[in-house]
Amino acid sequence: MSPALDLDTKLHDYLHDAHAMEKSVLRQLGSLLATTRNQQLHAALERHQALTRQQIARLEERLEAHNEDPSAPGDVGAQFAAFFKALGSILRSDKPVRNAKDVFVAEHLEIAAYEVLERLALSARDPETARVARENRAEEEEMARIVSVNWDTVVDEMLAEEHLLEQAADRSKPEEVNVHSG
Ligand SMILES: [Fe+2]
Repeated sequence: MSPALDLDTKLHDYLHDAHAMEKSVLRQLGSLLATTRNQQLHAALERHQALTRQQIARLEERLEAHNEDPSAPGDVGAQFAAFFKALGSILRSDKPVRNAKDVFVAEHLEIAAYEVLERLALSARDPETARVARENRAEEEEMARIVSVNWDTVVDEMLAEEHLLEQAADRSKPEEVNVHSG
């Protein structure tokens, strides 16, 4: 039998991971803001950047409440950076689409992390950390929701940038979508 892990140590690991994740997302948001021209997404990303700073502060408060040093390195940040780099090379240079997909994927990774952190915190009898996990998760869900109502716009922007919009069917009209040209 392996020695029993201390439950608090486990919670600290996950808190450090969430903290490193948010710091990586904050850097990512900076480069996404610089290349996102869609006004609604740009405004949402700006709001989310400010919220992400607050999320980081909330996680730091929880780490400090556990006498943990927030500056202790976590390895999730590097994993996140590598992940985005890999995504970028797969998706070539279609910026509007690439940015929206990056945000959508990042928010869902964050949502998953907070689903786990909330439950772990409850198991470790730390309802305040669970509350922070819920609060942060709600903000990620809102950001993901904004992306999800913009897919049509994002695809049209990509088609417009590549001068393909004139060839494109009106997706809202089944009779146009179902007619093959040529
Ligand atoms: Fe976040």
